[in-house]
Amino acid sequence: MIDINKITRQCIIDIKEYVPGKPIEEVKRELGLEDVIKLSSNENPLGTSPMAIQAMIKEVQENVHYYPEALSPLLVAKLARIYQLDPNQFFINNGVDGVLSMIAMAFINSGDEVVTSQYSFYSYQSVTAHMDGKMILIPQTQDRRFNIDAIIAALTPKTKIVFLCNPNNPTGTITTRDEFERLLSSVPENCLLVSDEAYYEFVDAPDYPQTIPYLKDHSNLIITRTFSKVMGLAGVRVGYAIAHESIIRVLRKVCDAFPVNRIAQAGALAGLDDQEFIDRSVRIVKQGRYQLYHGLLNMGLNAIPSHTNFVLVDLGIPVAQIYEAMLSQGVIVRPLGPQGLPSCLRITVGTSIQNERALIALKRALQGCGGG
Ligand SMILES: Cc1ncc(COP(=O)(O)O)c(C=O)c1O
Repeated sequence: MIDINKITRQCIIDIKEYVPGKPIEEVKRELGLEDVIKLSSNENPLGTSPMAIQAMIKEVQENVHYYPEALSPLLVAKLARIYQLDPNQFFINNGVDGVLSMIAMAFINSGDEVVTSQYSFYSYQSVTAHMDGKMILIPQTQDRRFNIDAIIAALTPKTKIVFLCNPNNPTGTITTRDEFERLLSSVPENCLLVSDEAYYEFVDAPDYPQTIPYLKDHSNLIITRTFSKVMGLAGVRVGYAIAHESIIRVLRKVCDAFPVNRIAQAGALAGLDDQEFIDRSVRIVKQGRYQLYHGLLNMGLNAIPSHTNFVLVDLGIPVAQIYEAMLSQGVIVRPLGPQGLPSCLRITVGTSIQNERALIALKRALQGCGGG
């Protein structure tokens, strides 16, 4: 019998398994429910861009027996045109998750320090652990934001990467332009600042930083964005990094031979032309997060104003039972116990009917648990 712990790298043994949002199929199967809505993984309430769907169908019909182009050149060229940057500044991968793994693989040596905030996107911790990096988690501010001054104070000559999640998942809060500039100017030249902007399309705060122009003078800045949210392509996995070409060259060295499948490349390419869908997604999300946030406030709950397509609510009591009670009503949300927030639920913005259903399910769950 294999002694698995003897052959596994110690840093992998130490990793706790990630618990993703429950899939609809699993809840239907386990609870015998027919009508289930998933508001647990920050997906698009409108589905997917119809233009992207048509392009993906065509790609399946005509080309799926061929390997894809390795570096997604058409998508790179289109993004370069949209951003008015050099194509050599783009790295496309299997979602931002894939991009983050490649960044870690390329740059983190065993023992390197990696700094981020507590209560942020879990992948920063897992990709750092894969490479045996040392994760430094900085406590948040009172209003559940990245504490930029504390992050700056934590930088040492051993810091290799700072992960900034802006807006932040799971709190939905932002780092402001002033804070971003302060951080960027404090990060040493040979330390990377990764600004993960998976939700940037949904932000309308005037003090949210537009980070692309900073690339010109900061060759250690990496910006990541995704097709999973506003474009509704979470299921095919495509995201990208924008950075100085020397960084992109290194990322291209470490990635798989065919990191982005054909269907994803075709869908993303066509989706970029579907401005109507993008605009509609942004509009529905902004209306929906207002509805959810105020619905939660009206129930007397402590919800955090969100700049994203989800809302964090702190119930002040352990949420495990509430989560289960919502599940039994066919509403999947995300309990944040595994992320160290045992009294918090994260609810993805759905359609207005779904948001209403989530609010009613939460109200009933709280009544059932004697909480309201
Ligand atoms: C902050 C953040 N970054 C990255 C991702 C992953 O994006 P992708 O679907 O492109 O892997 C997510 C997904 O929820 C996220 O919340």
